[in-house]
Amino acid sequence: MKKLIELKNVTKAFGENVVLKGIDLEIYENEFVTLLGPSGCGKTTTLRIIGGFVDPSSGEVLLNEKNILDIPAHKRPTNTVFQRYALFPHLDVFENVAFGLRMHSNKANIKIQTEKLKEDYQIRIDHAQDSTTKKKLKLELNKEIELIKDPNIHLKLKIDKLKNKIKTLDKTNPEFETQKQKLQEQIKAIKNDFETPKVREKRLTDKVMKYLAMVNLQGYERRSVHKLSGGQQQRVAIARALINEPKVLLLDEPLAALDLKLRQEMQYELKEIQRNAGITFIFVTHDQEEALTMSDKIVVMNEGEIQQVGKPEDIYNEPINTFVAKFIGESNIIEGIMIDDYLVEFDGVKYPCVDYGFKRNEIVDIVLRPEDLDIVPEGTTPISGVVDSVAFKGVHYEIDVKTNTRIYTVHTTDYQPEGKKVSVSFEKEDLHVMEKW
Ligand SMILES: Nc1ncnc2c1ncn2[C@@H]1O[C@H](COP(=O)(O)OP(=O)(O)O)[C@@H](O)[C@H]1O
Ligand SMILES: [Mg+2]
Repeated sequence: MKKLIELKNVTKAFGENVVLKGIDLEIYENEFVTLLGPSGCGKTTTLRIIGGFVDPSSGEVLLNEKNILDIPAHKRPTNTVFQRYALFPHLDVFENVAFGLRMHSNKANIKIQTEKLKEDYQIRIDHAQDSTTKKKLKLELNKEIELIKDPNIHLKLKIDKLKNKIKTLDKTNPEFETQKQKLQEQIKAIKNDFETPKVREKRLTDKVMKYLAMVNLQGYERRSVHKLSGGQQQRVAIARALINEPKVLLLDEPLAALDLKLRQEMQYELKEIQRNAGITFIFVTHDQEEALTMSDKIVVMNEGEIQQVGKPEDIYNEPINTFVAKFIGESNIIEGIMIDDYLVEFDGVKYPCVDYGFKRNEIVDIVLRPEDLDIVPEGTTPISGVVDSVAFKGVHYEIDVKTNTRIYTVHTTDYQPEGKKVSVSFEKEDLHVMEKW
């Protein structure tokens, strides 16, 4: 996979308030990356820095190895979908999605585009080493401007060439008529390729339909947007962003306003849309389940710092510290002592484990996931206690077992009555040792 975006030691302060404390992050092409963390940890700020809406206080943002901090938001190959979908209420679904493309072909916009081009080129011309390069750049600029003003300019030039050829044909040649006819046919064929308003509209329609299909809204083209559900409106917003063919789509809690059922449906759909569009999604959420469901890569953040970056399974199974363990799912977190490599002690009992590389007798945190624990007959393990509470959770029971030292939360499909004396067991692979946080 190719690296697309890189954040290097990015910091951000709002006055005295340092909200990003040195973010280093690599994002690859076609990745579904999720920034996950509690409210206020700096997710939105990070996203805005990538999108160009906020300048970092220090650090670099690279796109394809080039610093893009000088490039304004509207010129970056990014598009943003916000939590509150900003659709145009007076336009139907089709026109909402087509909006971005129409902007490109309307007259006022031609002027804006030309100005932008001139601005861009002026910077490069000013920085050019010699006059030949400057001249070359100026010629390039003029060509690009012509193309914006007249999308058929290249075809027209081709026709001019063919017409000149006809003029120079040798009339005395017996082949003259056939040669002339051939060239005229070529001219005709090129004229057929001219982008007329009709052709343009057809292309636009095809494209809008393609992206409406991608977000599962075929048949809704002429629906007015306020007759859509929240989920459908958000899909219109996504189609409208995708049609501009950005390299990266930035999504800031786009599902937060939806109810639970719709949100879960949209989680799968979003992943599907990302796959079909073949672009990078950077998704922000404070919902760990959402992050685990959709992401190729999760970036767990807290208080302006990245805690851990990894695949959902890795983040879940091997949380790097107590914060990540607590944030990603429920856990039993127990303080212990790392006696030696592969040997940890807690509550006075030594347990073999798969972790190593800690200092001898280092104080550590141990994570035991509720679903990795089992309830077994009393006395069969060193952890004995009494069933303190039982709650049915749909698929499993959540059972709290109270020992002399602590309460263990266990997820199991076997019912146990309150008050029963039991023991708690686990496999050594399920005991995760982490640095104390
Ligand atoms: N424009 C701003 N001016 C001042 N403080 C801001 C601004 N934007 C964000 N913050 C502060 O930066 C911190 C991180 O905010 P944000 O990136 O929005 O967090 P998140 O998206 O993770 O909830 C918060 O403490 C927030 O109050
Ligand atoms: Mg936010």
